[in-house]
Amino acid sequence: MNRSPEAQAQYERLLPEAIAAARAAWCPHSNFPVGAALLTADDRIIRGCNVENASYGLTNCAERGALFSAIAQGHAPASFKAMLVYAPNVALISPCGACRQVMHDLMSPHCVVYCVGHETAAARDWTVEQLLPGAFGF
Ligand code: THU
Repeated sequence: MNRSPEAQAQYERLLPEAIAAARAAWCPHSNFPVGAALLTADDRIIRGCNVENASYGLTNCAERGALFSAIAQGHAPASFKAMLVYAPNVALISPCGACRQVMHDLMSPHCVVYCVGHETAAARDWTVEQLLPGAFGF
């Protein structure tokens, strides 16, 4: 992965946080844990994990968990520096469509989302804009 030294440092700081977040995932239905680590403007890290429900459609993904938690803690939309998403049960995690829409609403278009599965060499750095080109918004 060709990252700038700054991006690599960000990645290395966020990865253990997202791994820890994935360990907290509540996913008895899918057995597919996901962790997210969101870097705030003031260099704090807010974690999110997927939380499933017996009524499957009520499940909340790790990415939305982190973003909603950050907003609830008073962080401004579009103020975030980066997010890292980690899922150990897949080679490369690709955020779902619902989370891409929420990222589009709450993160700036050029903000990077590091996506990492168990094949760390296959990790991808996508911007919010790349994840949802031509997104709906008003
Ligand atoms: N999931 C996430 O938390 N983030 C993603 O990027 C993809 C999917 C969750 C939802 C559900 O709990 C499980 O992974 C399987 O879809």
